[in-house]
Amino acid sequence: MSRPVAILFVGDVVGATGRRLLLALLPELVERHAIDFVVVNGENAANGVGITSKIADALFDAGVDVITLGNHAYRQREVYGYLDAHERILRPANFLKSQPGHGWCVVERDGARLGIVNLSGNLYMRAGHPVFPHADAALHALRDRADHVLVDMHAEATSEKVAMGWHLDGRVTAVVGTHTHVPTADARVLPGGTAYVTDVGMTGARGGVIGVRRELALEALTTQMPVKFEPSDVDPWLNAVVIRCSSEPMRADGIEQLLLPAPSGFR
Ligand SMILES: [Fe+2]
Ligand SMILES: [Fe+2]
Repeated sequence: MSRPVAILFVGDVVGATGRRLLLALLPELVERHAIDFVVVNGENAANGVGITSKIADALFDAGVDVITLGNHAYRQREVYGYLDAHERILRPANFLKSQPGHGWCVVERDGARLGIVNLSGNLYMRAGHPVFPHADAALHALRDRADHVLVDMHAEATSEKVAMGWHLDGRVTAVVGTHTHVPTADARVLPGGTAYVTDVGMTGARGGVIGVRRELALEALTTQMPVKFEPSDVDPWLNAVVIRCSSEPMRADGIEQLLLPAPSGFR
């Protein structure tokens, strides 16, 4: 039996600035929007690339239910064993089976079961398997295990994400895009009842270049020479969506975009 539930999905958390902003805003957001489940893309949480077990633990301790990842999943070697051992941290389901971790899980609260699937696009991205049949395979694995399913489609190309929205419309509760770190203005519920947005955006410093310190990104682009990137801390914003699930399984009543600057005094 499903009941109306609300999901907060937070776009790619970048570095310490993104993590601190998320932790600062999360309790109030959960209360204000009556959130049941919190899902966070954490692929840039560790100094801009990947995630560590310590950071993942801190996010879970703060009330995050599930962490999704993406192309940066394996940038921190230390986390490989953690990805295998912990149910509620996901890397894309269409990565190779031999790569650490797994691509979907189910969380339950007050009788509501939410399945989460992490996918990687194939256009301009490295993922071992084609994403469309692997999305179907993940849904098959989740059949009868979840009342609602949220898919994080981590992909570069807007076309591939829009296509995944149509592919899954009516079969999952929500398809949210991540990876570009720039929010798109197309959040809506598709005709079949699936909440959709091409990119949620990022939770990090908007004063950089998609999270990277502006001067380092510009140096790399202007000199065409290698530059070691560091996360920016200028002008942090939280980018997220709130998905209102319907009382009917695998359907959404609404999707609301949250684009929130850091409160005054945030450091
Ligand atoms: Fe990212
Ligand atoms: Fe990414």
